[in-house]
Amino acid sequence: MPRFPGDFAWGVATSAYQIEGAVTEDGRGESIWDVFCRKPGAIRDGETGDVAADHYHRWNADVGLMAELGLTAYRFSIAWPRVQPLGKGPASEPGLDFYDRLTDALLARGIAPVPTLYHWDLPQPLEDEGGWLARDTAHRFAEYATLAAERLADRIPLWITLNEAFVVTAFGYALGVHAPGQTLMLGALPTAHHQLLGHGLATSALRSAGARQVAITNNHSPSWPATDSAADIAAAKAYDNLHNWMFADPLLLGRYPDLSAFGVGPGGPDCVRDGDLAVISAPLDAIGVNYYSPARLSALPDSPLPFRMEPIPGYPVTAFGWPVVPAGLTEMLTTMKERYGDRLPPVHITENGCSVRDEVADGTVDDQPRIGYLDSHIRAVRAAMTAGVDVRGYFVWSLMDNFEWGEGYHQRFGLVHVDFETQRRTPKASFAWYRDLIAAQRRPT
Ligand code: FCB
Repeated sequence: MPRFPGDFAWGVATSAYQIEGAVTEDGRGESIWDVFCRKPGAIRDGETGDVAADHYHRWNADVGLMAELGLTAYRFSIAWPRVQPLGKGPASEPGLDFYDRLTDALLARGIAPVPTLYHWDLPQPLEDEGGWLARDTAHRFAEYATLAAERLADRIPLWITLNEAFVVTAFGYALGVHAPGQTLMLGALPTAHHQLLGHGLATSALRSAGARQVAITNNHSPSWPATDSAADIAAAKAYDNLHNWMFADPLLLGRYPDLSAFGVGPGGPDCVRDGDLAVISAPLDAIGVNYYSPARLSALPDSPLPFRMEPIPGYPVTAFGWPVVPAGLTEMLTTMKERYGDRLPPVHITENGCSVRDEVADGTVDDQPRIGYLDSHIRAVRAAMTAGVDVRGYFVWSLMDNFEWGEGYHQRFGLVHVDFETQRRTPKASFAWYRDLIAAQRRPT
């Protein structure tokens, strides 16, 4: 493995609903995921995050696992319904206490806490008032950000506002395969703008409350045409604008990309108001990139979404069926550098990892495919750095197996295996591999 800079952050990532459980404890309010999971057929085998990896009770032991890994940073998410059970109003102290304890425990182990404020668990009462379709939700989000920062900002080096707004818009509001399960197709586009506005308002709220550094995390996939036909090239371009640039361009350039393939004018979705883009493009200290795989598109004429996702032949696939293309990560990062130049803030790879059909045998899990995936992708990050991209950190998705949204517990992404019957944690071979990698990188030359 090539050498990374001495101050490069080595982390893992998780999110609240995927690991915490304890959904009714200490006054936590209901989120859209609690409600969505109860909808028949929404989640594979009717599974829910009610218990998940029981991290709400086992956080201290889990921080012990992080210390064993030798991590320098941990990306987790704060559950909005723990902080504001109804999505508005004063902070719930017991809810904040949990993240306060976690923050202190991490710092005591020399691990930088990197909280994400929104990893998809909107308080259900806000959804009842329109969710991200409602402009007001952006203002509610900024208020919640203030409450979190007033308690924690003195100890948090880096905040992340939103996780993967694209997935919220596409899966949550357009296609209905994630909470809140709306199937509005292009009618979902206002949720993109309102999330961006929420990010912008929260950024200034966080800074006013003393936050040191603020970032946002988007997911990115190089978008390749299935063939070199003009139609497929146009389809890939339309998808690229929707997936990669609809969020990043407003943040970094203060304007929307060409969304004409979706009937959107040059000023962005109709709900954009004067001044919004200035709020959204307020300077960032860093940008988070989540990367799993590229996308390959063919044209789908006469459809509101004028593209179809095609398989990418010639690459191994993960247990989820996602192609393993490490060069896609280098390509994505260098493309971003070319597009944004000096406007691209320092990058953190805030998620990268793969699901494997892991089984415990003889007290361990020999997850060689995960080691191969992580090794090749970390090298791909290094290659992008050599090509001039300023990458400051890398976070494996995920510390431990968890609730994988619509797939329930069927996709295992962890460095640590979780037996969801007993909550027993078993570090996998990849855990030891990552621990050794971090130790080698941190050893002085
Ligand atoms: C990302 C999500 C994360 C996890 C991984 C596999 O899109 O941010 O919560 O589910 O995918």
